[in-house]
Amino acid sequence: MNADGRSRLDQLPEWNALAAHRQELGDAHLRDLFAQDPERAERFTLQVGDLHLDYSKHLVTDETLRLLRELARATKVTELRDAMFRGEKINTTEDRAVLHTALRAPHSAVIRTDGKDVVPEVHAVLTKMGTFVDRVHSGEWTGHTGKRIKNVVNIGIGGSDLGPAMAYEALRAYSHRELRFHFVSNVDGADLHEALRGLDPAETLFIVASKTFTTIETITNATSARRWLLRGLEAGQEAVAKHFVALSTNAEKVAEFGIDTDNMFEFWDWVGGRYSFDSAIGLSLMLAIGQDHFREMLAGFHLVDEHFRCAPPEENAPLLLGLLGIWYGQFFDAQSHAVLPYSHYLSKFPAYLQQLDMESNGKSVDREGRPVSWQTGPVVWGTPGTNGQHAYYQLLHQGTKTIPADLIGFANPVADLPPKLAAHHDLLMANLFAQGQALAFGKTSEEVAAEGVAPELVPHRTFPGNRPTTTILAAELSPSVLGQLIALYEHKVFVQGAIWHIDSFDQWGVELGKVLAKRVEPALTEGAAVPGLDASTAALVATYRSLRGR
Ligand code: F6P
Repeated sequence: MNADGRSRLDQLPEWNALAAHRQELGDAHLRDLFAQDPERAERFTLQVGDLHLDYSKHLVTDETLRLLRELARATKVTELRDAMFRGEKINTTEDRAVLHTALRAPHSAVIRTDGKDVVPEVHAVLTKMGTFVDRVHSGEWTGHTGKRIKNVVNIGIGGSDLGPAMAYEALRAYSHRELRFHFVSNVDGADLHEALRGLDPAETLFIVASKTFTTIETITNATSARRWLLRGLEAGQEAVAKHFVALSTNAEKVAEFGIDTDNMFEFWDWVGGRYSFDSAIGLSLMLAIGQDHFREMLAGFHLVDEHFRCAPPEENAPLLLGLLGIWYGQFFDAQSHAVLPYSHYLSKFPAYLQQLDMESNGKSVDREGRPVSWQTGPVVWGTPGTNGQHAYYQLLHQGTKTIPADLIGFANPVADLPPKLAAHHDLLMANLFAQGQALAFGKTSEEVAAEGVAPELVPHRTFPGNRPTTTILAAELSPSVLGQLIALYEHKVFVQGAIWHIDSFDQWGVELGKVLAKRVEPALTEGAAVPGLDASTAALVATYRSLRGR
């Protein structure tokens, strides 16, 4: 039993019904499912805002979908969803509300947590960000020596890097091209070194993005950046105010670092790191695309929030995508999920989703701390489509693993592409459609043989098909569409965590490594003894020291 008196997932009749249904479905092939139902493509399509979502190439029937929705009902997904939107503390292990949806709620909304309406402060920070962005764009905000800002360096890691870096890339076509953006995350000094190469400190603004403002990678990079700035300007601490701003929940630590808290853009503990880029963490993005486009993006998020909150289960896209993932993970033993954008601008989207999904649902105990006996979050991976086709798609088509994939594409190339380059677009999208087709329907041995292929080569040239994909299309990759797309995945991850009965909003799994790194570092630098260090790590440390000539 769960704390609320419900049976555990694997004891539910709805779970067992799905297992039995999987047996019945056996090797049913998409070729036959389509042949039996001429309406399938049309029926298994949803429109959510600007997103056109085709899920007809999934290994499901109407009965599968009905049983999956029954599972969602039995596991009270909508009840947890409503509790999240109401601001209840559904992140129980950290005793926190989960209110990223409040970051994109309209001014008129009232969303309370701990008795306080959070919407006014969300909008106050957005206004403060907008004012700052306008001042930088107009040249009213200058560096210490009076020079205009030309370079923006975002220093952050995890959710304080991946979101803004991904969205900057995605919306480059909307960006102020006269500003140059750099995203520094890795504690490897090479990252900062390469980002700062050739930059004039007098024209450089650092945005230190850290929810906690204690993350060692970020503080180390920010400290080195400050040293670079002050040396370059031959100035004292007073120069920091014009070149450093902070995005954080922790005013005390920001002040301790030496950044004026007037130059701090706040957010709150009810915003998880991986759900934070539409908070103040999006400042670098807002600097790139301007506040109007940033607000359009927030409106896109909100549109899908409302869809998730209000659409009936049969038409609820995040619910559907979450359920499909559970279907493959549990009943097809799928271990991973590929995200394949047919858009160069979405090249960082899979990496962004890795944190969103894997940090949220990479858990093996349930909300009551008991081990789960079912699959939880998949390994999420991917790269832009056509590049992947010439690398790992071989395995997708003919390997032994079931890997559900999302194919994401846009009808129009971005507006500022020169006509000759925009003309590539049909070829790009033809590849997306061809891959979905090949993965689903394959090529039978009869078809191969009929082409006159030598019999011994027929098995090698046969494509089994039946590889499930979702196709997501939109007219173009606009700020609003990006917001819609991200909210779709955020809520998909939510649905899965709700069904698996895990806490999708904590990340205790990242702690141990941080603690051990702190303990090991003095052994590397000073040769200090680390009590209880295992033999393998001790030998590696000794080898490292000797290779470094220590
Ligand atoms: O790796 C753990 C983590 O806490 C992430 O969840 C978070 O996005 C990242 O580190 C950065 O944290 P912060 O914004 O506090 O520096």
